[in-house]
Amino acid sequence: MHHFTNVTDIGPLDLAVKEALEIKANRFGFKELGRDKTLMMIFFNSSLRTRLSTQKAAMNLGMNVIVLDVNQGAWKLETERGVIMDGDKAEHLLEAIPVMGSYCDIIGVRSFAGLKDKAEDYEERVINQFIRYSGRPVFSMEAATRHPLQSFADLITIEEFKTKERPKVVMTWAPHPRALPQAVPNSFAEWMNATDYDFVITHPEGYELAPEFVGKARVEYDQRKALEGADFVYAKNWSAYADPNYGKILSTDRAWTVDSEKMALTDNAFFMHCLPVRRNMIVTDDVIESDRSIVIPEAANREISAQVVIKRLLEGLK
Ligand code: CP
Repeated sequence: MHHFTNVTDIGPLDLAVKEALEIKANRFGFKELGRDKTLMMIFFNSSLRTRLSTQKAAMNLGMNVIVLDVNQGAWKLETERGVIMDGDKAEHLLEAIPVMGSYCDIIGVRSFAGLKDKAEDYEERVINQFIRYSGRPVFSMEAATRHPLQSFADLITIEEFKTKERPKVVMTWAPHPRALPQAVPNSFAEWMNATDYDFVITHPEGYELAPEFVGKARVEYDQRKALEGADFVYAKNWSAYADPNYGKILSTDRAWTVDSEKMALTDNAFFMHCLPVRRNMIVTDDVIESDRSIVIPEAANREISAQVVIKRLLEGLK
């Protein structure tokens, strides 16, 4: 594997999950693979899980790790070509990227959508510039339109907890006070559509995701109907994708909050969320604290998904 930005980069999912479970059972078994190799993790946005789990995964593989918070201590970066740099941005990404590449063997990048210009966000300018100019294998630690390390961890978690060959997985929109990107729901949909699960997306009208991510999923606007018989409930907020409302909040209706009454409609479903989560906006305290909530094992599997991806990138260096 040379880069990891979406579900197709990982190859057959059954093999990826098998490898993940093997690594989970023996996470220090490949320590020699990363000896004298350096991972550089570059964050344009905040993180708790991605930073810690990816660093831990790289350490499990014997790597050295450098972490750069672009917004804390680095020069402010210009990303547009052709700009006269007479403002506060002291360095251009086009020099910064190859310089960063010269100090490491593999690069992880986190760069969220700006939610102002849909075309700019959906062309994935930042991570694609890293792929083009760093000279290194690059993996996404959440880009503008996808969060594949999260989705891979979600898949591993579902495979571990499912009791049916073909579970019903429902991704439900839920309210949030701030406008959030579509990266997590896009990516989750992309990965679920690559399985044979019964996959349903529910959201208020106006929150339709890009058709290429909805794919073969069933869309149901009635949340209660969607949740009937669900085996997994995956809650997430996202801002509007469709024009003219791209990046906007259309609703903060707490009738969409996942509560115990909604969970009672399911087939004793497990509750999932990528975290961080706003309690009593996205999900009530009692649901997230219930014995059907698997948000902690889901987050723990971030270490495993990252380790599979970095291991494969290291193998690709040879
Ligand atoms: N789920 C996730 O990516 O968490 P962080 O934003 O804390 O990394």
